[in-house]
Amino acid sequence: MAAGKGTRLKSKLAKVLHEVGGEPLLAHVIAAASKVASPEDIYVIIGHEAEQVRDAVASTGVKFVLQREQRGTGHAMMAAREALVGYDQIIVFSGDAPQITATTIEKLRDFHKSRKAAMTILSARLDDPTGYGRVLRKGKTSEVREIVEEKAASPSQKKLKEINSGFYAFDAKKLFHYIDHLSTKNVHGEYYLTDMASVFGKAKQGVAVVEVENPQEILGGNTRAELVELDQQMRMAKCRQLMAEGVTIFYPQTCMIDADVVVGQDTVIEPFVQLLGKTSIGADCHIRSYTVIKNSRIADGVLVRNGCILDEATVAPGALLGPYSHLRPGSEIGESAHVGNFVETKKIRLGKGSKANHLTYLGDAEIGAGVNIGAGTITCNYDGVNKHKTIIEDGVFVGSDSTLVAPIRLGRGAYVAAGSSITNDVPSDALALGRARQITKEGWAREKREAQKKAKG
Ligand code: UD1
Ligand code: CA
Repeated sequence: MAAGKGTRLKSKLAKVLHEVGGEPLLAHVIAAASKVASPEDIYVIIGHEAEQVRDAVASTGVKFVLQREQRGTGHAMMAAREALVGYDQIIVFSGDAPQITATTIEKLRDFHKSRKAAMTILSARLDDPTGYGRVLRKGKTSEVREIVEEKAASPSQKKLKEINSGFYAFDAKKLFHYIDHLSTKNVHGEYYLTDMASVFGKAKQGVAVVEVENPQEILGGNTRAELVELDQQMRMAKCRQLMAEGVTIFYPQTCMIDADVVVGQDTVIEPFVQLLGKTSIGADCHIRSYTVIKNSRIADGVLVRNGCILDEATVAPGALLGPYSHLRPGSEIGESAHVGNFVETKKIRLGKGSKANHLTYLGDAEIGAGVNIGAGTITCNYDGVNKHKTIIEDGVFVGSDSTLVAPIRLGRGAYVAAGSSITNDVPSDALALGRARQITKEGWAREKREAQKKAKG
């Protein structure tokens, strides 16, 4: 069920598209569902912002059911009747509870099967059950009499700590046979799927309950505060997993590490680091504070100093980055190469052992091994319309503050004098000077000072 608006979030974005742990709520739920059923048997009920929700998760291969008006969770299942009525058993997931695991769903499924129940509710015991529907059992049995929503609960019912998780298993034939008995006579004027418990009760159909082992799994993200809490729980779990695998993370509470990130042994991650998307970091790396790395591959033994930003970059073993380097998409940094302070790169290859240590822009460039790029060097890759390539062969020395106007090639071992503006190719082993010759006027400054003094009187 993913059709709801998520009124409590006060957002333009549909609730299930709000992200925790770097992914939309719904993506997490689909990932769990995909471990117990194949995508062609998973139906996502969409409604509010349906197209956007569909686009966000379509790549998973799941199917979609449209709930045109959002008249409650019971109504959502009515909308899915045609799609689901041919199945024997169905499991209903809440699209806003991202920590659910396949293991728990299997437990729910197996318990439901063994009970031959019409409906089995996954429940949880929460210290603070506020906001959730409460499960009213028949005495101490695992049979359910009713689910009471928070708003309709009496003061004594509100004290019950066993809540409805919003995950259920149903006998499909029975669900769709009895679902029209639901009514909208409640505070919200909606069809509650939870009311199927009492509907089945009246029809003498079994309603069972099975409790989740780890209540954290079923927590929903209904408010911004709940989303943040979920995000923190998931990210902390990720940090714990990495630490268990041999990664040191100082102050994990301050780091944002997405679920798919891989980090090798003995790598150290300092406070306030973000590792996002499909990033992999090798072993024996050191990632210093305030660095943000997204969809990048970093090999072993790389030092990333403070404040670097990497996006779709690859970095070979032993390289050294930062502080404050900006590696934009397509940056390939070679083995033991250095990219230093305030250096921006885009779509470049920097060869083995080459260095660009200070204040430089390198874009659309092929740079060989053992090259020295002096401070302030700029590849002028853009003529206002097209991008052009700069080729710098092995062993080239580019003096500080040079502009290399592409397309251009600096041959192997060539030397560019500092302050040059290079507009023509430089042959191998040549020296290129692209600047005005210096003029020195002896005594000029002294004469000027004296003339000024005189004028003042
Ligand atoms: C629901 C349960 C509550 C349970 C809680 C667990 C009902 C009436 N109440 O409350 O007992 O404790 O989940 O998290 O079911 N949705 C639709 N179509 C709709 C309405 C909702 O698809 O017309 C979807 C939402 O997008 C969401 C899910 O159903 O993913 C649950 O809806 P939500 O409004 O979050 O229900 P709760 O108030 O949390
Ligand atoms: Ca909810």
